[in-house]
Amino acid sequence: MKILVTGGAGFIGSAVVRLAISRGHDVVNLDALTYAACLANVASVSNSAHYAFEQVDIRDRAALDPVFDRHQPDAVMHLAAESHVDRSIDGPGDFIDTNITGTYNMLEAARRYWTAQGKPAAFRFHHISTDEVFGSLPNDPSVKFTETTPYDPRSPYSASKASSDHLVRAWHETYGLPVVLSNCSNNYGPFHFPEKLIPVVILNALAGKPLPIYGDGSNIRDWLYVEDHADALLLVLEKGTSGRSYNIGGENERSNLELVQTLCAILDEKRPKSQGSYSDQITFVTDRPGHDARYAIDPSRIRNELGWRPSVTVEQGLAKTVQWYLDNEDWWRALQTREGVGERLGVRA
Ligand SMILES: NC(=O)c1ccc[n+]([C@@H]2O[C@H](COP(=O)([O-])OP(=O)(O)OC[C@H]3O[C@@H](n4cnc5c(N)ncnc54)[C@H](O)[C@@H]3O)[C@@H](O)[C@H]2O)c1
Repeated sequence: MKILVTGGAGFIGSAVVRLAISRGHDVVNLDALTYAACLANVASVSNSAHYAFEQVDIRDRAALDPVFDRHQPDAVMHLAAESHVDRSIDGPGDFIDTNITGTYNMLEAARRYWTAQGKPAAFRFHHISTDEVFGSLPNDPSVKFTETTPYDPRSPYSASKASSDHLVRAWHETYGLPVVLSNCSNNYGPFHFPEKLIPVVILNALAGKPLPIYGDGSNIRDWLYVEDHADALLLVLEKGTSGRSYNIGGENERSNLELVQTLCAILDEKRPKSQGSYSDQITFVTDRPGHDARYAIDPSRIRNELGWRPSVTVEQGLAKTVQWYLDNEDWWRALQTREGVGERLGVRA
């Protein structure tokens, strides 16, 4: 299959690109190369005859048609987005433009191309979204997000992603565009941009800096290893029913404090300090405005209908991730000079 992947130079998109090529697909990576992009993420496949790159901004509607016409994809996997909640608090405009208008542009470009092709039923527009569109859960393990949980986004980021999900469903209902959607919990793993919690903790720990925990660290997230997410995404693309959405999660709920303590314990074992534990560096900082208390995914649909299961436990995945950052200092050092990285963002509200 030839897949047009948007955002393929980012964290999750690059995992999708690498996995798709390893499975024999052709991939066109469409990415504007914003601050969050890194072409090194796809260096392992970029010389492949099955890989092509297009530096295009999805906010530019006119630039999208030639990409479809030139490459004639069988499917689109749409991951390009502004993705950092803290940045959405300081500057929501970019999130509205890329996540909402950019998705609208992708839908229109896909619809034009699909119509010109004779509306093949096998075409797919796979929209990759987040569990954050569902809002915040109480701390009750019996309550989780399902595909029918009402939308209740609470940050500019999650509101922009919720809007894009609604557009994708509308293009299916109104124009018949064959779409699938997926809403996933927090990802972690190799190539995670060093402004997100897990890489920040690993890299600050190694640098002897404070490990910042927002509020009291009780906020709960449901963590999924990025390569397991990429595997689920290809499965949804190939086997998912048109018009349907799939929740993807690892059933690995951890409070932020527990997560950071686990990372410290892994680092204590892999790279012991001369004295004490990395957990001595934990520092509680002012909470994020509107910080959602808990996210938790019920992945029954993707498990029962498509047979998907994650391949690693969170303990295995975190150990692999820490080892990857220890082994790939050149990769993360180059990104630490990018605008805003290493600064506390999202407190201007
Ligand atoms: N990171 C998570 O935990 C998580 C969880 C669930 C869903 N998601 C969703 O998955 C997708 C990918 O997330 P990520 O963490 O890999 O993001 P990321 O920030 O690492 O990568 C985003 C990529 O999109 C590109 N991009 C941004 N604006 C663009 C534009 N206007 N035109 C073209 N390309 C543009 C960037 O250059 C970058 O390569 C997003 O849609 C996000 O909402 C992320």
